[in-house]
Formats: sequence, C-alpha cells, structure tokens
Amino acid sequence: MVDDNLHWILSFYRSSEISGALFFGELARTIRPSAIQQDMTRQFADEANHARYWTDCLAKLGKEPLKISAAYQNQYLAAAGMPTNLMEILAITQVFEKRVVSQYTLHSKSPDVPIEVKQTIADIMEDECWHIQWIREALKKMESDYGADNIKATLKHFTEADREVYRATTLEHQERLGELRLATR
Ligand SMILES: [Fe+2]
Ligand SMILES: [Fe+2]
Repeated sequence: MVDDNLHWILSFYRSSEISGALFFGELARTIRPSAIQQDMTRQFADEANHARYWTDCLAKLGKEPLKISAAYQNQYLAAAGMPTNLMEILAITQVFEKRVVSQYTLHSKSPDVPIEVKQTIADIMEDECWHIQWIREALKKMESDYGADNIKATLKHFTEADREVYRATTLEHQERLGELRLATR
C-alpha cells in the first residue's frame, strides 16, 4: 500500500513540519511580547502537531519515519537571503505557507492517495489556512511602518526565490515524486 517513494515523501513532509516548528519557535522566543509573538507561538505549536500527525499517519500505514537530512526551509534562506527584519520574516513565511498549502492540495488530488494521507492533509490544512490569514493581517498592519510598496516588493522577491527552490527540489527528487501532482509555478 505504501511504496518507498510515498514513505520518503511523507517523511519529508514530517521533517519540514519539524523544521517549521523550530524556525517559528526560535522566532517566538526572540521577539518581544506582542500580538505577533502570540500568533507565532500558536503557529509553532501547530507545526509541531503537524509533524506528529505525519508520524501517526505513517504508523497507521505500518511505517516508521525516515531520517531526512535536507530541510526545504534551509534552501529557502540560501536562495532568498536571510530576512533582516520582522516584516521580511513574515513575508518569507507567507510565501512559504502558501507553498505548503498548494503542495498539500496537489498531493490530495493526486492519483491513488491512501485515505490516511488525505485525512492527515485535511487536518493540517485547517491550521495552515489560519497561518496564511494571520500573517496577511500582520503584514497589512505593518504598511505604515515599512510602506505598502516595500512589502509588495519583498513578497515578490521571496515568491521568486520560492519558485526557484520548488523547481530545484522537485527536479532533484523527480523519481521519488512519481505520479504526485506538482505546481507549475
Ligand atoms: Fe504545518
Ligand atoms: Fe504552517
């Protein structure tokens, strides 16, 4: 029921969720108490839970998670450069979260997806949509400090970096991805 490729893909998702939890956890620890810090805290708790959902999903499918060394997020920072302020951190997060939602949606619509995987994606997706929403609202509120045009340009810069990383990642793991539906941009 679960071939080696799906085993690897689900382990990759799990590992990315762990990296996300650590990334936002570290941020939440550094920034001062504020509405943003509260939402960031809720988000890193969500990402940690998503990793757990994938662990549970793999267990239901009779598999142990595989150790995945390279995290998608690290390549992001390499391609886009390190964010230098809170606005840039939220912008890169917004772009990343949209990619996550897009990939999970495409996965769910791919051929022969086990019901356990579909259910896990549906559970995760409820939280991911909230992540995009709170960050969008936080960025909107930052317009007076950073300028709407500047925020727009930052989002564009990170969107381009995201497309580059996604393209390179899917190319690198082409054989493993098999029939999995992928984004065209
Ligand atoms: Fe997540
Ligand atoms: Fe998320």
